[in-house]
Amino acid sequence: MTKIIETMDMTVAPPETEPERQYYFIRKLQIWMEERKAQLGRPLTACVTTFGCQMNARDSEKILGILQMIGYEETDQEEADLVLYNTCTVRENANLKVYGHLGQLKRYKKQNPEMLTMLCGCMMQEKTVVDKIKTSYRNVDIIFGTHNIFKFAELLAMRVFDASAKKRMIVDVWKDTDAIVEELPIERKYSFKSGVNIMFGCNNFCSYCIVPYVRGRERSREPEEIIKEIKELVADGVVEIMLLGQNVNSYGKNLEHPITFAQLLKQVDEIEGLERIRFMTSHPKDLSDELIDVMTHSKKVCRQLHLPLQSGSSRLLKIMNRHYTKESYLELVAKIKKAMPDIALTTDIIVGFPGETEEDFEDTMDVVEQVKYDSAFTFIYSKRTGTPAAAMEDQVPEEVVKARFDRLLKRIQEISAEKTQAGAGAVEDVLVEDVNKQEEGYVTGRTAKNYLVHFPGDESMIGKIVPVKLCESKGFYYYGKVVE
Ligand code: 5AD
Ligand code: SF4
Repeated sequence: MTKIIETMDMTVAPPETEPERQYYFIRKLQIWMEERKAQLGRPLTACVTTFGCQMNARDSEKILGILQMIGYEETDQEEADLVLYNTCTVRENANLKVYGHLGQLKRYKKQNPEMLTMLCGCMMQEKTVVDKIKTSYRNVDIIFGTHNIFKFAELLAMRVFDASAKKRMIVDVWKDTDAIVEELPIERKYSFKSGVNIMFGCNNFCSYCIVPYVRGRERSREPEEIIKEIKELVADGVVEIMLLGQNVNSYGKNLEHPITFAQLLKQVDEIEGLERIRFMTSHPKDLSDELIDVMTHSKKVCRQLHLPLQSGSSRLLKIMNRHYTKESYLELVAKIKKAMPDIALTTDIIVGFPGETEEDFEDTMDVVEQVKYDSAFTFIYSKRTGTPAAAMEDQVPEEVVKARFDRLLKRIQEISAEKTQAGAGAVEDVLVEDVNKQEEGYVTGRTAKNYLVHFPGDESMIGKIVPVKLCESKGFYYYGKVVE
């Protein structure tokens, strides 16, 4: 596409179809960029800050792909010519962080009035947030949401080519969409690994969760598009991919020719040159025997599964709208462990959901004790306006939640350390990810089970998979050495 857009006729109106329309605006901005660079005598810089999950990280790579094609240079300095925050709203503290940054931006913008500031992501899907920005942070230039990231170039062009002296804030947030625009540029953070969206949105409406409201209904990408993207990534040096979806286990149900996630995984598994496959997130209610079977027989699918528990109390799970019980979750785990005894299990747990009693919390502790997770993300329940749980009475007092949270975290860390210790002495394949910034002469990588390992090595090893002896366990990671 790069070559084609250089010859694009810019005297005609923008095309109506996507992605051609966006390439038209990218070309227009490329021409503008050349002029700006010549005027300023320096390149223009862009700083993209990402909050939240892997989905957001992948969205930011898409935005960076477009920015880079336009001609922006990426920087991590927030005093850039273009600053964008890709926001998260899953918990209240994610929102607070963004407001903190916005306060700072006011200062930078005073120093550089030409600076462009943009906000996108899940927070922008909330009307109250956009209203607050409109009144309190009036110097934000562009706001868009989770459904129209593909329109990034068009929105930027609207702003850049707006001739009025009083440029107004551009707000373009969609409630939902069916559109999936393929074939736009993407700038990967890592050369050797990549996330790949397989679906967008969520239909589950867990009662505490805001995601279905801000990410819209489930939409699956066509399997052919996914396979094509992964093949291109592999040809470009990627050895590990993470298939991304809010609930990958319901992938493909609404396609014209329905296909299961297990069937997709099998197709991905057959891609030559690809070495490792991960996926997240799996909802326990939809995890099929077929998926366990495909995982068991694959050499590429990593022996690691993220299986959010949220709570161990069947009573709370019902109110959370999770559609499984403590018993059925434990049965599922037993089935998975029977098929793959060496599997590493990780989870998400919420403490302090409205009405959580001591007995409910004990059930959570009990599941943790029985499953023995390799690691777990623990969250204090955060009230999200608009979700059913926010309206529930008997919110748990803060000090009770805090005490339970500390107890849970302590036990999770102890189990994690025991599991790490048990793995010491083994030789595992490690994908080298980076040079170790703290220790000279060391590199850092991950095992298939996603454990971090530090070992002697150099930059030339980045992106390679090497056998490493896990010599010493350090709580949650290892020190190792390459086995010749
Ligand atoms: N409060 C606390 N944690 C939450 N999560 C989702 N919504 C909330 C909330 N309102 C957690 C869940 C989910 C993870 C991504 O974030 O554990 O799995
Ligand atoms: Fe939120 Fe539940 Fe959907 Fe996960 S499955 S994104 S927790 S609503």
